[in-house]
Amino acid sequence: MRDVVIHVCVTCRHEGWDPEAPRPGARLHAALTRLAPPARIVAVECLGNCRRACTVSLSAPGAWTYVFGDLTPEAGPDVVVAAGLLGASADGLMPWRGRPEPFKRGMIARIPPFPTLEDAAE
Ligand code: FES
Repeated sequence: MRDVVIHVCVTCRHEGWDPEAPRPGARLHAALTRLAPPARIVAVECLGNCRRACTVSLSAPGAWTYVFGDLTPEAGPDVVVAAGLLGASADGLMPWRGRPEPFKRGMIARIPPFPTLEDAAE
């Protein structure tokens, strides 16, 4: 099992968002914190995907990093499922099967694992 880090953009907001209300990204972050998944949750300000808010990224040592958008503040349980899939992945890729629907259509990018010194020697 890999240690997964969930970065959540807390400044994400949707079009028409009421500026008096908490930002949708902050609401998603709060919901995830309440769910207490077996992952580290890190709040960040902007993941460069502002037009397709809400946004999270999932990363783990030796695994691909995934950025997902078009999420809602209620997507916390789906984020937990997706994080679990990445954490349990043997090859570091998040399997398609078992992904919650928002994680099938909301993928913004996937980034290869950071190369190690052993990789560079090959
Ligand atoms: S404000 Fe959330 S990705 Fe930019």
